Amino acid sequence: MTNTPSSQNPDITAGMEAAEAPKPHPGSAHIRSFVHRRSHITPRQQVALDELLPKWSVAYRPALLNLEQAFGRSAPTVLEIGFGMGETTEKIALARPQDNFLGVEVFNAGVGALLQRIETSQLQNIRIIQHDAVEVARDMIAPDSLAGVHIYFPDPWPKLRHHKRRLVQPAFIQLLASRIKPGGYIHCATDWENYAEQMVAVLGGEPSLVNTCEGYAPRPDFRPQTKFETRGLRLGHGVWDLIFKRRA
Ligand SMILES: C[S@@+](CC[C@H](N)C(=O)[O-])C[C@H]1O[C@@H](n2cnc3c(N)ncnc32)[C@H](O)[C@@H]1O
Repeated sequence: MTNTPSSQNPDITAGMEAAEAPKPHPGSAHIRSFVHRRSHITPRQQVALDELLPKWSVAYRPALLNLEQAFGRSAPTVLEIGFGMGETTEKIALARPQDNFLGVEVFNAGVGALLQRIETSQLQNIRIIQHDAVEVARDMIAPDSLAGVHIYFPDPWPKLRHHKRRLVQPAFIQLLASRIKPGGYIHCATDWENYAEQMVAVLGGEPSLVNTCEGYAPRPDFRPQTKFETRGLRLGHGVWDLIFKRRA
C-alpha cells in the first residue's frame, strides 16, 4: 500500500488545514477523514511493514470478511478505527486475550509500529487492515457481527469548515451501529470539547443506540491513557468518553 499518514495530533492537523482545504476525494462517495501526505517512517517500521504486513494484515477487498478465518478462531471482535501508533491497541489486546481486535489505520508509520508491537508482545488477537475505515466498515464487515467499536481521539478537524471531515457523523455512526451485534458497544473518546458535543449529538441521535451513562462515561479501566490524552491533559484539555450500546 502506498498510503501516507493523516494528521497525528491536533497541532499537525491545524497546520495542515491552511494548505489542504477539504474537498471530496475524486472518485469517492464520501469526504475522507484523513489526507494522504508524506511522513517520517523509521527503518524498523519500514522493515515491519515489508516483512510483517502479509502475516498480520488483511487486504482491503469490497467483499465481506470472514472474521473467524481472519483470526483463526471464533471470538468477540472489536473494530478499532484509527489506531495511530497502536499503543492502546496493544495494551487492550494484551488485557483482553479472549477478544479479537481488528485495527484499521491508513498511516504507514502507525501500521509499521503496531506490526512491531504484535511481534514483540507475541499477540495473536490483532489483525490490521490498512485502508479507509469507512470503506472497510461498509464493504467488509457483516451486519450484526461486531462485539464493539473503538474510536479513540479521532482527528478533531477543529475548523468549522473542516467539520465535514470528522469521522463521527450520522451516516457513519448509523453504518457502524448496523455492524455491531445487538447489545454490543461503541466507545469514543476525544479531548476536543466541541467534538465531544458532536459525538453526544450524533450517537444520541442514532435510534439503534442507547447511552450507557447520563452524558459522558468515566474512562473504563480497559482503556489506557494514550499519549494524545496525556498531552491534552497537560495542556489543560478535558477528555470525554462516550459508551453507547446497540439496542437489543
Ligand atoms: C489523532 S490520531 C489518534 C490515534 C490513536 N487512536 C490514539 O488515540 O493515539 C487519529 C488516527 O486516525 C487515523 N484515521 C483517520 N481517518 C481514518 C480513516 N477513515 N480510516 C482509518 N484511519 C483513519 C489517522 O491516520 C490517525 O492515525
